[in-house]
Amino acid sequence: MNGLESSVDDLLMSEEQANNLTYFAFAKSHKAEPALAPTKASIGELPQILAGRYHLERLLGAGGMGAVYRARDLLHEQFGDPDPYIALKILGEEFAESPDASALLYSEFALTRRLRHDNVVRVHTFEVDTDCQRAFITMELMRGLTLDKLLCERPLGLPWKELRDIALPLLDTLACAHRRGVLHGDMKPSNVMLSEDGLRLFDFGLGQAEEGVLPGLPHLSRERFNAWTPGYAAPELLEGRPLSASADVYGAACVIYELAGGKHPFRRLPSTQARDEGLDRGLEAPDNLPKHCWPALRTALAFDAAQRTVTARQLHEALSVDPSWLQRLALRRHG
Ligand SMILES: Nc1ncnc2c1ncn2[C@@H]1O[C@H](COP(=O)(O)OP(=O)(O)OP(=O)(O)O)[C@@H](O)[C@H]1O
Ligand SMILES: [Mg+2]
Repeated sequence: MNGLESSVDDLLMSEEQANNLTYFAFAKSHKAEPALAPTKASIGELPQILAGRYHLERLLGAGGMGAVYRARDLLHEQFGDPDPYIALKILGEEFAESPDASALLYSEFALTRRLRHDNVVRVHTFEVDTDCQRAFITMELMRGLTLDKLLCERPLGLPWKELRDIALPLLDTLACAHRRGVLHGDMKPSNVMLSEDGLRLFDFGLGQAEEGVLPGLPHLSRERFNAWTPGYAAPELLEGRPLSASADVYGAACVIYELAGGKHPFRRLPSTQARDEGLDRGLEAPDNLPKHCWPALRTALAFDAAQRTVTARQLHEALSVDPSWLQRLALRRHG
């Protein structure tokens, strides 16, 4: 019997059995498999196959609200896809019953999908496994290194050439997101991956659409979900003001500063504490940053949002200027 015939056979299973399965073909053989061991993020047990189709293989990371697994898409595999691997982000059990948490996960999906940018992780679907009552996102499996891991490997930071190849696509991606009315909300090294296919910005879990963009998405209070990352969130966020493009610029500037010299500009302290201790007063340009880039980066690091007058696009432009071109211009002026 070939694979397709056996699929048809499986289609004849009872309706009750099939209830939770998008693709009945996989039901018989996989339903009885043992559940995946509990993880940091999921206190309870997850079935090994979600929605009758996604075979969870390995935990890739766990965060505030859930976990990300590497999984195989059994449907694609059955039809011969040589790379049926995906990543699957699922809410932890403690959040599974909260409609707000599911709505936040959906919001992450919708915001990410809206962007369609080469340097933004590609999301495939938003689904719910009706058996275990959990919502999840399927997306491309990125293979590579997140910037926090890169920083561990390179504690002195990166030379300008390497840094520029990360900072420019990162800022371009952020500028494009802002132009499309999408705010990220959690710019930090662990949310940027240097993947085999280039840089990827991901985890729009704290993201928001600007007024009038994706109007159907609910506006949810994030307080209950212990939202912002203190070392990268701008002070105004920690003080309860709304997310803005300028706050994303602050987070991105911290990431770029840290990559340039291996050190976070404010020792990863909560930005409100760093401000209150006046840590910005002695702030110096990181070692590997060319001089002409510093004024724009310094502005992006301003604690006071009113003084943070540089956009992601402008910061991108400032970092794009070729220093040898600047030198030639200066020589021509003075020559
Ligand atoms: N598409 C993907 N491909 C490969 N690995 C991924 C993917 N998405 C996430 N990961 C891994 O899982 C980790 C957690 O993912 P993510 O940041 O989306 O979850 P989170 O729960 O919001 O985490 P946190 O609260 O720590 O920011 C990432 O740091 C990364 O290592
Ligand atoms: Mg994250």
